Amino acid sequence: MSVQSITKRKTAPDIRARKGGEPIVMLTSYHAHTAALVDRYCDVILVGDSLGNVMHGFETTVPVTIEMMILQGSAVMRGSQHALVVVDMPFGSYEASREQAFHSAARILKETYCGAVKLEGGARMAETIAFLSERGIPVMGHIGLTPQSINTLGSFRAQGREEGAWGPIENDARAVAEAGAFSMVIEAVAEPLARRITETVAIPTIGIGASATCDGQVLVLEDMLGLWPRAPKFVRRYGNLRPMIEAAIEAYAIDVRSRSFPGPEHVYGMKANS
Ligand code: KIV
Repeated sequence: MSVQSITKRKTAPDIRARKGGEPIVMLTSYHAHTAALVDRYCDVILVGDSLGNVMHGFETTVPVTIEMMILQGSAVMRGSQHALVVVDMPFGSYEASREQAFHSAARILKETYCGAVKLEGGARMAETIAFLSERGIPVMGHIGLTPQSINTLGSFRAQGREEGAWGPIENDARAVAEAGAFSMVIEAVAEPLARRITETVAIPTIGIGASATCDGQVLVLEDMLGLWPRAPKFVRRYGNLRPMIEAAIEAYAIDVRSRSFPGPEHVYGMKANS
């Protein structure tokens, strides 16, 4: 007898259909245990290449490899059941050509079973987004601040700060939507620009530091939990876990050092021989 899963995961078309409707809730996760928690409340789980900063301590996301993304993407798929899981394509795995992008994205889908990939870049990536979308790979775009380009940008500053700089970003948004992406992240842009893009494009916009005018929001889980000390200024903290975890580790260390650590007799009801 074959066993069929009775839970249905959200799909890229489900998210695409949310344009202008109920806001899309998205958070990052890199592990099975956090994915299980995030899955209960989120429409989309992003296995972001921010794992390079948060899990591995790199200064930027540039060193992240496709193997890292596949390992953590698989863990998140095992930990979740309902949300659409989107895995980031890391720097160097898709920019050289649309064929390179297809091979990398197909590998991510086949080895993690995730439902979509995300890649950074606007108009310059439109041809690649169309190539992937036409070949069965749902793509989430990412415009505004694109952290993988840190070495040409020079800093992680907000983009389009003056109205005169909005044109290229609006052009990026249009190009990504027209190329067939099912949604796009807009990172670190001013509210009026995010609003204008959201009103103009036909696909959902998901903001991070881009105001509540977007069709949804995403944050890095460790940032909003107060676990990661270097969270961007725009992040609202919904928890302050770092001191709680530190206090628990300190209490454990004190117990071990003072030999007050509970022994097996507490668990198994064993009595010590005297
Ligand atoms: O890598 C990541 O976590 C991201 C989000 C910040 C959108 O791309």
